[in-house]
Amino acid sequence: MPSLAKTLILFGATGDLARRMLLPSLYGLHADGLIAPDFRIVGTARSGEDDASFRAMAEAALERHVLPENRSADSIAAFLDRLSYVELDASRPESFGRLADALGPRAGDGIAIFLSTAPQLFEPTIAGLAAAGLAGDNVRIGLEKPLGFDLASSRAINDAVAAAFPEDRTFRIDHYLGKETVQNLIALRFANSLFEPLWNAAGIDHVQITVSETVGLEGRVDFYDGTGALRDMVQNHMLQLLALVAMEAPARFDAAAVRDEKVKVLKSLRPIDAASIGSHSVIGQYRAGAVGGAIVPGYADELGRASDTETFVALKAHIDNWRWKGVPFYLRTGKRLPARQSEIIVQFRGVPHSIFEGRRLTANKLVIRLQPDENIRLLVMAKEPGLDRDGILVREVPLDISVPNAFAGVRRRIAYERLLLDLVEGDPTLFVRRDEVEAQWRWIDGIRAGWKATGMIPGGYAAGTWGPTAAIALTERDGVSWHD
Ligand code: BG6
Repeated sequence: MPSLAKTLILFGATGDLARRMLLPSLYGLHADGLIAPDFRIVGTARSGEDDASFRAMAEAALERHVLPENRSADSIAAFLDRLSYVELDASRPESFGRLADALGPRAGDGIAIFLSTAPQLFEPTIAGLAAAGLAGDNVRIGLEKPLGFDLASSRAINDAVAAAFPEDRTFRIDHYLGKETVQNLIALRFANSLFEPLWNAAGIDHVQITVSETVGLEGRVDFYDGTGALRDMVQNHMLQLLALVAMEAPARFDAAAVRDEKVKVLKSLRPIDAASIGSHSVIGQYRAGAVGGAIVPGYADELGRASDTETFVALKAHIDNWRWKGVPFYLRTGKRLPARQSEIIVQFRGVPHSIFEGRRLTANKLVIRLQPDENIRLLVMAKEPGLDRDGILVREVPLDISVPNAFAGVRRRIAYERLLLDLVEGDPTLFVRRDEVEAQWRWIDGIRAGWKATGMIPGGYAAGTWGPTAAIALTERDGVSWHD
């Protein structure tokens, strides 16, 4: 049994992620009684806060990012009592000694550490923790992305972590795995017998995964320009979604079984290389345009200089195994697209023969929507009500498994709530194993090498549109349209 952590040490505690997601998530766990009364949260960062100013910052963050109906003054006050702060500069080893001192006798109990800092601080932080005796068997560590910028740098980070924390105490976060609908995909596939017989190349024509965003750079200028859409979104979140859609049924829902199946899929991704890059990928960069009725500047204007970084990418991927032989997985993601929408579309094959002469039949489609709302719809053909002299009129209608409706009254949780709870409780099932991350990077590095070798640069698209027109051609060539 993994030990329950009694203390969470949050590195990067004054940062944007902590304010928007981590502190509100921890508050959610507190408010629902999911963390023990004696559980404490120690924030650390370089800024010169003290306990009082850190609590004030946390209070402001909760007021801003937790809905009024989900918080109360009493419960916030009790939550703030759990917080303390240690100023820490990762480049100064003595800082870690002060952290250990601040923990006092708690240093011997279960500890969960969460690193939400710049990745260049990972190595000194791990070394500092180890030197201060904060990497023992009672300590596990959670790592927020980005875990490197290519396979080599990701290996370097993984090696540095592994020097102090064995794999079973290393929890790599991909917040998409904390999303309800993503876990619901696992439930849908493996708690129902309905889909599995069709879940293969014989039953499925293709799969689409779209993660579109309306936002632009959001002030993350340097990070984003050095990263681009492929590495920011596809390497991690979208490949995890793809792996969950495509994996074989694990023998049980546990960390080893689930991750063994995911990694097999990731290792079966057919490399996209210089020869296939032109027909299997499209990249774009947004120009000025209008999103949601507002005029927005182009990427280069936001950045203040010209750049070849892609803010949109569409890919046609193949999984070279028996189940998925010949089934394309189309992926697309981008900034400044018309809508914030994350969806997985599983397009089944049509009926082999139609008895409804003259009627257009649409093949069944499973639409798993992660954002903005969470629902799962199965699009099926049904008879239109009424009397028709020409026989039966058929039309596509959704069978709707709307999560909020089916489970009315259940609060919609932030993805990090699930993940922070699992980190505290020591369940690694929804975290990414080293071999998965490295398989992801290997595939992504191949694509980037292909772009480089062929001199491919992003084509322009007007903000508020679905990327360059070439992204439409990518699927239309195969007789497939993106689902909008
Ligand atoms: C992050 C990316 O990992 O995911 C961001 O760095 C992106 O660029 C974000 O906006 C999207 O997450 P979500 O949960 O809002 O879809």
